Amino acid sequence: MSPVTDQHDTSVDRRAVGEPELQERSLSAVGTRQLLIGCVLASGIALLLASIAARGSRPPLIEGLPDAGSLTHWALPGSRAIIDLTAVCAVGTLVLAVLLPTSGGELTAQARHLMRAASRWASAWLVGSLLAVPLTISEITARSVPAVLRDGLLREFAFSTGQTQALLFMAWLAGLVAVCAGTIRRRTAAWALLALAVAALLPPAFTGHAAHGDRHVLGVVGLTVHISAMALWCGALLVLLTQSRTLTSVLAPVTARFSRLALVCFVTVAVTGLLTSWSRLAQPSYLWTTDYGRILVAKAVLLSLLGFLGWRHRRRTLPALRAGRPRAFVMLAAVEVVIMAATIGVAVALSRTAPPVREHPGLSAPAISAQLFGEPAVPTPSG
Ligand code: HEM
Repeated sequence: MSPVTDQHDTSVDRRAVGEPELQERSLSAVGTRQLLIGCVLASGIALLLASIAARGSRPPLIEGLPDAGSLTHWALPGSRAIIDLTAVCAVGTLVLAVLLPTSGGELTAQARHLMRAASRWASAWLVGSLLAVPLTISEITARSVPAVLRDGLLREFAFSTGQTQALLFMAWLAGLVAVCAGTIRRRTAAWALLALAVAALLPPAFTGHAAHGDRHVLGVVGLTVHISAMALWCGALLVLLTQSRTLTSVLAPVTARFSRLALVCFVTVAVTGLLTSWSRLAQPSYLWTTDYGRILVAKAVLLSLLGFLGWRHRRRTLPALRAGRPRAFVMLAAVEVVIMAATIGVAVALSRTAPPVREHPGLSAPAISAQLFGEPAVPTPSG
């Protein structure tokens, strides 16, 4: 039976294929493996490009001074991106599990299947966080990873620096999510586990750029809400897409619920992103005169693109989905998810780029020496 075309749908023969099978074929347009590979590639390439663009902000290597080596230079941001991507998948899987209809508060077989998937993602997240510990110590001590492992630096520093403590705490919480997810039967418990998974995202936000600088309270609060909203939004869309084939019967209502969450998260990510940026940038001109600022602008452009795709969904693909034509939704959501992964890559590069230092007129070199040694400390051109 060869597929014949009609003027509306070019791929399958409607007469020969029942509606459910039609939906099934549309939903298989995007394979899960391709999508995940596409996300990892997009995130990696965006991280690489943004890191190259911001290389001017990194302290130059000084001959004779110890250095962590190229393995750490490339593997540490890579491990950061893997942590963010696996965390987003774990959180997203839990979001979808709680968005699915239940029977009397009991999770359905589909939702329990998702809980088991969340357990696997949380295990990957745990491993990624642990792998980042020796890499972080290598960067902090400017010693190579083999030296860190050989010279007992792991034991010495793992529990004594803020960054490694945050990674270990994140690993521990991710481990808790991995262990509990497979045992949960009720939606209320699934909600509680979702809250735990979102909390597990946050420890590094308390040790990065956010924890330093004048406006660090705004920086920390802004960043924690920013990362939480991002994970709920990006994670749920990715999992909705990868699970769409098994959710045909409930895809439209679940997507409608997700769409409401997505709008709230989009606005939250934008507002907290701008607030967190403000907590780092002393003046607007830093947006185009510094590497950090330029990466922020790139993120704002990517967010606007995601906003436009969200609008397209509301105008086109969601009505088509409700009418039993999921293909447009699936295709557009696949593009959206890849852009989200790329933005996460850019965000990791941002978190590893030094924010511009706030100029304190009272703290410039001439001012300091004037205070210490009296005026003028620095020879003026006239003498
Ligand atoms: C207006 C748009 C946005 C702005 C201004 C913005 C701003 C920021 C800022 C200032 C940080 C803290 C970076 C640091 O540690 O110094 C951050 C972190 C982050 N942002 Fe955004 N953001 C925006 C949109 C997005 C979007 C659309 C996503 C994802 C889809 C995203 C994902 C993240 C992630 C994952 C981090 C944490 C990175 C890490 O530490 O691993 N952001 N963002």
